[in-house]
Amino acid sequence: MVDQAGADAYNSWWQFRADSWSRLEEATGRIASALRRNKPIDHEMTSAVHRECAALAPLEQFWAFPGHAAFAVVQELAATGAWERLARLVARINRALVTESYRTGYLDAIAYGDHRDDSEDLIVTTSQHDPFSRPYFEVLVVESMSLAQEQRLREEVHSWRRPGDPFIYDLVVVGSGVEAAVAMRLNANIQACVIRRRFSHAALRDLTNLANFADETLAAELADFSPDERAQALAPHLAEIRPEVDLYLMTDIGVEDVAGKVSHHFRRVFHAQEGALELHLTILAGVAERYRTPFFEALRTYSQRPTGVFHALPISQGKSIVNSHWIRDMVGFYGLEIFLAETSATTGGLDSLLEPTGPLREAQQLAAETFGSRHTFFVTNGTSTANKIVAQALLAPGDIVLVDRNCHQSHHYGLMLAGAEVSYLDAYPLNEYSMYGAVPLQEIKSKLLALRAAGKLDRVKLLMLTNCTFDGIVYDVTRVMEECLAIKPDLVFLWDEAWFAFARFHHVYRPRTAMEAARTLADKLRSPTYRAQYEANLPRDDSTEALLSRRLSPDPARARVRVYATHSTHKTLTALRQGSMIHVYDQDFALKVAESFHEAYMAHTSTSPNYQILASLDLGRRQAALEGFELVQRQLEYAMKLRDAIDHHPLLSKYMHCLSTAEMIPEKYRASGIAQPLRTGLSNMITAWEQDEFVLDPSRVTVYIGLTGVDGATFKRERLMDKFGIQINKTSRNTVLFMTNIGTTRSSVAYLIEVLVSIARDIDNNAAEMNLAERAAFERSVLHLTNPTAPLPNFSGFHPVFLGQSDPTTPEGDVRKAFFLSYDHTLCEYLPADDVEDRMESGESLVSATFVTPYPPGFPVLVPGQVFSKEILSFMRSLDTPEIHGYQPALGYRVYTAKALEMLAERPSS
Ligand SMILES: Cc1ncc(COP(=O)(O)O)c(C=O)c1O
Repeated sequence: MVDQAGADAYNSWWQFRADSWSRLEEATGRIASALRRNKPIDHEMTSAVHRECAALAPLEQFWAFPGHAAFAVVQELAATGAWERLARLVARINRALVTESYRTGYLDAIAYGDHRDDSEDLIVTTSQHDPFSRPYFEVLVVESMSLAQEQRLREEVHSWRRPGDPFIYDLVVVGSGVEAAVAMRLNANIQACVIRRRFSHAALRDLTNLANFADETLAAELADFSPDERAQALAPHLAEIRPEVDLYLMTDIGVEDVAGKVSHHFRRVFHAQEGALELHLTILAGVAERYRTPFFEALRTYSQRPTGVFHALPISQGKSIVNSHWIRDMVGFYGLEIFLAETSATTGGLDSLLEPTGPLREAQQLAAETFGSRHTFFVTNGTSTANKIVAQALLAPGDIVLVDRNCHQSHHYGLMLAGAEVSYLDAYPLNEYSMYGAVPLQEIKSKLLALRAAGKLDRVKLLMLTNCTFDGIVYDVTRVMEECLAIKPDLVFLWDEAWFAFARFHHVYRPRTAMEAARTLADKLRSPTYRAQYEANLPRDDSTEALLSRRLSPDPARARVRVYATHSTHKTLTALRQGSMIHVYDQDFALKVAESFHEAYMAHTSTSPNYQILASLDLGRRQAALEGFELVQRQLEYAMKLRDAIDHHPLLSKYMHCLSTAEMIPEKYRASGIAQPLRTGLSNMITAWEQDEFVLDPSRVTVYIGLTGVDGATFKRERLMDKFGIQINKTSRNTVLFMTNIGTTRSSVAYLIEVLVSIARDIDNNAAEMNLAERAAFERSVLHLTNPTAPLPNFSGFHPVFLGQSDPTTPEGDVRKAFFLSYDHTLCEYLPADDVEDRMESGESLVSATFVTPYPPGFPVLVPGQVFSKEILSFMRSLDTPEIHGYQPALGYRVYTAKALEMLAERPSS
């Protein structure tokens, strides 16, 4: 049995496996070395070997290297006490694993059968070793077969290898559906899967230690199917875990009949007797399809062509640099290639971003497949621009939009430009940490229902939410859309997933992404079962109270799935800064949006887009499609290691701790009742992510530092950046946010821990030597940071003159009017905070003429047209942030004059 506590409970069996091989190498090495020196070996030494072998035993079947056969030899050598040979063999295997040289595909463990006596030579480096190491992957074969059959299959596959193949692969064979699902979850090398007809529904081996990954209900479900149908039933399960993996069906019964009935999850069906070579070529072609980066390749080819440049791009092909006397270091620093690829050509193999018809269009189509959208558009000016494009494409002046008041500024500006009427939604506050959570569904529904009661539902066009928030709060995207569509069947959704592009590549995250939720919702609305259920449960009471108190289901005959997501690809995947994407799953796109989308895209996109950014989006997509799963798992693992290291360290935990799900999401939004989902095991994470209204993205680690007596901004600037060069980008009064990403390494986590320990040690040493006055000051700082400031203010409301269409029944505002009227200086004045307060106390309504955004926390406390409230002023007073956009310390707040408001009240339509 594997020691469950030793194997991290998160997601990290690959890490556990790697560590076990290293420990096994160490243990066998110790014995071999003792034998060489004629020293005795004791029970402790040998049991360490047996322990590691037992730990690896249930895992090895899921990886191609070193493979069942070689591992069986390892076990046999351990059992028979052939220590020196075992040590040599284990060292070679581990070296191949650590250096990843097994990925050349030529480290073969195949010759085990007749060569048991030379077991140390099991792993041979052949002369065919590929110096350019073609990308390597593994193919999962699902079929019950003997070891000898498996070996023959492996040899056959190896015999098809050709030097010119673009990739090299090896096989992992499992005999049951349950093990296939485990392999998909564990082994990130798997890029294709061949399901054959004969496999067992239940696991053939003991999977007790892999309970987190083995789905027992799957065994029961597959048992109900005949062998013929079983492959079809398994496919959707595997696709749910890893949608990017190519699935193939291999059958020995009427392939023509099967082909007509095969589910869309399979790329192709093959006949077992004749399809082997064709299957091999198809597998390579399938991976090549994801590997293809049409725009990057076009740009690379273009950059190698000599061209004469007679238009306005002197840097093109490095021409203005290489002959310069003064800026040649530019080439030294960046390398020549980047300038060779500098072009604005839209022909000659390249393409136009504004009207793509060639490689750029193909690159966007490939991105759509990878991210599960119907259309994807590349954007070269970040999600700030992506959000404005979507808002402008969907909205006309006067349309009503529901939007999280704490959303990114680009939404506020986008809505202002579009002339939409804005109904702000309040997120739940986390006063203790001076940050907001996310918008509860009840808040969204009540705003929608109020609009319904006011007879304005037909003008409500769009709901905009941030998923996940900066601090990592993730919505139940499907549920929000279902319940909103039940009230307003044609509502459009924009999910700002600036921070969430990576989420598609992990099976627990994926259902909470906009594109996946859109697809499942569209499938559900089409399904006869859902339609029948809906008809059978038609609601009788549709009063506001009834609709607020029950879970709503959309009418399948009326609801349209119209979903947009914006990704800052550059924030969480590989792309150059500003590389973003807009993903669209809108059933009415062609009919209702395509043209306005094009106009909006033209309005916000440069006519000189940066091709390097576009090519990096193409490459980032390739990486996500082929190794997103692995990278995201690793990222999660490191995030959990960081959390553990902080919370379990005796000195660190004296001054800081990582905020848990329970601290960031109030209990009422956590139906599962699980306080720390991933920390208590992947299955708990799955449960919480299935059930809870909000969940926390564990890859974002918010560390509470109130007890250090140092505020977040100072901690970031003076402790982390100036002293140790550690960059972070979000702080609150008493927290700092550490984001892990797909580039995070074990060493970078270790360095961060070192730095935090060193900061904590400084604080501890200082505290030990403080005199009375210093101690009092320190305690005051701690008290200040650990007690909540003034509560975070809710949205106070628009002044009546800025209410949309001057209809006060519901409070949406005309931000555009309020924004542009402030250009007239005679209508505005500056008022210091004290004057604002005095005049409010005398009963005057004071109205902001600008956005006022303190950073942190980074959301606008005031928007143009919004009235000041006492809560806003006391919150602003309690902030000790030096950076407040829209507020001039020397002058005060820019507000509308009383006279201007009077005048506007008389002319409400102006
Ligand atoms: C929620 C959200 N949306 C959009 C953006 C803007 O993204 P970009 O930096 O790609 O323009 C940000 C930036 O931080 C953000 O936090």
